[in-house]
Amino acid sequence: MSTPRARIIGTGSFLPEKRMTNDELAKIVDTSEEWISSRTGILERRIAAEGEVTSDLAAAAGLKALAAAGCAPEDLDLIICATSTPDLVFPATATIVQRKIGAQKAKAPAFDIQAVCTGFVYALGIADQFVRSGMSKKVLVIGAETFSRIVDWEDRTTCILFGDGAGAVILDSAPGGSTQGILSTHMHADGSHVELLRVTGGVSHGRPEGFDWRHDALGFVDMQGNEVFKQAVKAMGSVAEEALAANGLTINDVHWFIPHQANRRILQATAKRINLPEDRVVTTVDHHGNTSAASVPLALDEAVRDGRIQPNHLVLLDAFGGGFTWAAALIRW
Ligand code: COA
Repeated sequence: MSTPRARIIGTGSFLPEKRMTNDELAKIVDTSEEWISSRTGILERRIAAEGEVTSDLAAAAGLKALAAAGCAPEDLDLIICATSTPDLVFPATATIVQRKIGAQKAKAPAFDIQAVCTGFVYALGIADQFVRSGMSKKVLVIGAETFSRIVDWEDRTTCILFGDGAGAVILDSAPGGSTQGILSTHMHADGSHVELLRVTGGVSHGRPEGFDWRHDALGFVDMQGNEVFKQAVKAMGSVAEEALAANGLTINDVHWFIPHQANRRILQATAKRINLPEDRVVTTVDHHGNTSAASVPLALDEAVRDGRIQPNHLVLLDAFGGGFTWAAALIRW
């Protein structure tokens, strides 16, 4: 019997209602609409409401993906949530999502993965292995974040970049001979650059003296933006080429390139590096900023729903994030 193939049969996404424009940000930190839009391409981002947590965004995106796929929550036999901003240290956000979408009856496994902005593509790669091995058939894969809770709102070099949101897909097992589905996934990490992009606090560092456990946050996003920019373009370019070469395809075969939505200039530089015309790059960073693990599935859902992605199109997902981590997935739609 040939190896089954994982196929995306539904997509969904969710953005919190509250918009924050660049002009509003300019009232908080020393910046301007012109600087943010010209250096990043970001025009606005969404901010989760008080009490609205990552699992709320994830569940909303998951339910939309289930509806698009025509599946019931109890059909799911695996839930993976990629996030760096979980509701709680434990249990996993995926288990909280399972309850919120009413999928607990199936008692399917549910877990989180953490690869920062690469998280969704990593999660998709893991889900693909579960389907290929025959362990799972229908899988919900989510990328969801509330980065507004971990940015330093006094640091103009980072707080202007990030936003909140969630995106999700449903995978189904297709027969091995099927031409449509995930062709391959490619994942990498290089832990030598932890200091270039990280959150400064965390659980196992313990609480500093004077820490007020009721009010103090666990740290903030800290980033050397310039260096991260260069590394992101290089890594996303090389993993895109690796995915194409592994399948005997070239950049001319790609209908849609869906990179991590970090900064419009990163998207443009990566497209240039791999010789891809910009009109084949799905760009959504203008209206939600960098939503970390949510950004690739948010852009994917938008391009599916507006009809750009059509059956048999070749779609290349590509991401880069803290760690550093980077990954690509090549999909025949
Ligand atoms: N408003 C106004 N000025 C700002 C500013 C802001 N929000 N943020 C930085 N600046 C200033 C800097 O202080 C610096 O001033 P100086 O020349 O007087 O020192 C100047 O702008 C240039 O800073 P630099 O960091 O070189 O700008 P840049 O063109 O590299 O843009 C980023 C900064 C953060 C937008 C860009 O580096 C970036 O997007 N990096 C990747 C970030 C990212 O996507 N991370 C996540 C990846 S998963």
